Amino acid sequence: MQVVSISSLKGGVGKTSVTSGLASAALAAGIPTLVVDLDPHADASTALGVSPDDQLDIGRMLRSPRRAHLADNVVASGWVGQARANGAASGSANGSAPHVLDVAVGSAYTGIYDRPDLGRRDLRRLSTVLAGAGDYELVLVDCPPSLNGLTRMAWSASDKVALVAEPGLFSVAGTERTMRAIQLFRQEFAPKLSPAGIVANRVRSGSAEHAFRLAEMESMFGELLLTPHIPEQANWQQIQGAAHSIHHWPGDSAKNAAGLFDALLQNLLHPRGLAAAGAVRDRSQR
Ligand SMILES: Nc1ncnc2c1ncn2[C@@H]1O[C@H](COP(=O)(O)OP(=O)(O)OP(=O)(O)O)[C@@H](O)[C@H]1O
Ligand SMILES: [Mg+2]
Repeated sequence: MQVVSISSLKGGVGKTSVTSGLASAALAAGIPTLVVDLDPHADASTALGVSPDDQLDIGRMLRSPRRAHLADNVVASGWVGQARANGAASGSANGSAPHVLDVAVGSAYTGIYDRPDLGRRDLRRLSTVLAGAGDYELVLVDCPPSLNGLTRMAWSASDKVALVAEPGLFSVAGTERTMRAIQLFRQEFAPKLSPAGIVANRVRSGSAEHAFRLAEMESMFGELLLTPHIPEQANWQQIQGAAHSIHHWPGDSAKNAAGLFDALLQNLLHPRGLAAAGAVRDRSQR
């Protein structure tokens, strides 16, 4: 099981959108996946179309992590039914894939842990909850836009962090600060955490400023800047508003975006050059 946190220092850069795109790619690839919605705003739960009955939300599970019984409290994403129906309709081999995409549902209740002074014991709460996770191959953790307790709790439960950034001045500076924060966190709390990969989101192909900032990010972060970059997508809000998966939305632009998330998921889970990543890590530590 690989646990990947999707984080950023800044709000609104696309963490939840990238989490949703990766979850959609994982569902299409038949990778049994859990999305943990750690943001008190619970946007990922909305995007993934969950309708909880009497399951505990993730905030309540974190409160009593040893008694949480994650498997009893996850909710299947509404996308799973669509995937089954699409697979059956097309008669594709994927129609018989297991189609597991569960959600540990977000709630304002997680907010009680989003403090800057969370202690070691509290930082382990999510790891303890996830110890009860069944047969997932992938866990995606959608984080709130800060480096407070919830994001740190996510990092301490993770194998990898994906940082989402838009190619603008403040985002690039914020990403560098966040990389340094992850370095410090690794040294103190999570020695097995990989160096973070960076996802460039909302990239506008015609923008000279975006091209400049992307080149700057490439020289700063090298291989850690993941490919492909995710472009600004005109119908993204409409797709999210319908609580739809990008892989199930009709039209060429959604198909193209779905393909980008397929490739991004591959590159995130199976990075090419760890040696290069190490070299860049050294550079960013200076
Ligand atoms: N590639 C994209 N193309 C077009 N719109 C996008 C893209 N990525 C994100 N958005 C839009 O930008 C807004 C913010 O995205 P999102 O909610 O994913 O960001 P976030 O980082 O999770 O925000 P928060 O910090 O509030 O949790 C949303 O309205 C979303 O639809
Ligand atoms: Mg979000």
